[in-house]
Amino acid sequence: MYAMLDPSRFTVFVTGATSGFGEAICRRFAAAGARIVACGRRADRLETLKAELGDRCHAFALDVRDAKAVHAAVAALPAPFDEIDVCVANAGLALGLEPAHQADFDEWQQMIETNCLGLAATVHAVLPGMVARGRGHVVTLGSIAGDHPYPGGNVYGATKAFVRLLAQNLRADLAGTGVRATNIEPGLAETEFSLVRFRGDAERAGGLYRGADPITAEDVAETVFWSTTMPAHLNIVRMEIMPTSQGFGPTVVKRRG
Ligand SMILES: NC(=O)c1ccc[n+]([C@@H]2O[C@H](COP(=O)([O-])OP(=O)(O)OC[C@H]3O[C@@H](n4cnc5c(N)ncnc54)[C@H](OP(=O)(O)O)[C@@H]3O)[C@@H](O)[C@H]2O)c1
Repeated sequence: MYAMLDPSRFTVFVTGATSGFGEAICRRFAAAGARIVACGRRADRLETLKAELGDRCHAFALDVRDAKAVHAAVAALPAPFDEIDVCVANAGLALGLEPAHQADFDEWQQMIETNCLGLAATVHAVLPGMVARGRGHVVTLGSIAGDHPYPGGNVYGATKAFVRLLAQNLRADLAGTGVRATNIEPGLAETEFSLVRFRGDAERAGGLYRGADPITAEDVAETVFWSTTMPAHLNIVRMEIMPTSQGFGPTVVKRRG
């Protein structure tokens, strides 16, 4: 029999811990006795989280777009937070829902820098230590948008396709090292995601979720918790999760005239 892993022995590094999935993931693992390393850009929120979680939480402000800062932060982690067992590369965002020909290029750049470059830096910074210890788990936050195109998804969807392929390629490199990689791919989930996407328009963001019973941040936290506590011989490669209310759209045909 293979044993489930004991989360109270984990040190869990979470990017984007200041809201939504990341914050719920920190709480889920902390409730199971894990040590938490939490980061994001908003220092005030990290202080509140640290006050809630106590000494088992180490928190610091970090913009994942700064790849050097990401590497330096991981290299400078103080004991007993310095040996990361689970890295949740979660920090990310969507900006805008305009068609590609009307999109703001600065927003495209910010999505690529955060969701691709920032996530790659996070993964790159934690992997050598995990491989040296012969154990570890990298969880990336993809999206159904990385597989299923939708109008206005353009660069956001493309960044999440990058995340999915990076996670699968990690599996190719990590096989035999004892280190696992999992890409979690949620559908419609209620967090601050749409507030950010619609540039602070709370009415528009709320309208997207109304009556839809969307995925909650706690649902995602539970999938991350489950996949990382499974016995060490088992690797959940990808997990696509959607609200029961969500389905796939028909293929669109735009007719002349
Ligand atoms: N909600 C959904 O429907 C949904 C569906 C599929 C996938 N996802 C993905 O899930 C992840 C988490 O999203 P969420 O729904 O929890 O949204 P959220 O509530 O807006 O949280 C996003 C987190 O990312 C952090 N972040 C953004 N830019 C950052 C940067 N440059 N450096 C460091 N942290 C940064 C934010 O913190 P700061 O602003 O404090 O930096 C925040 O903590 C994202 O990768 C998102 O693409 C979301």
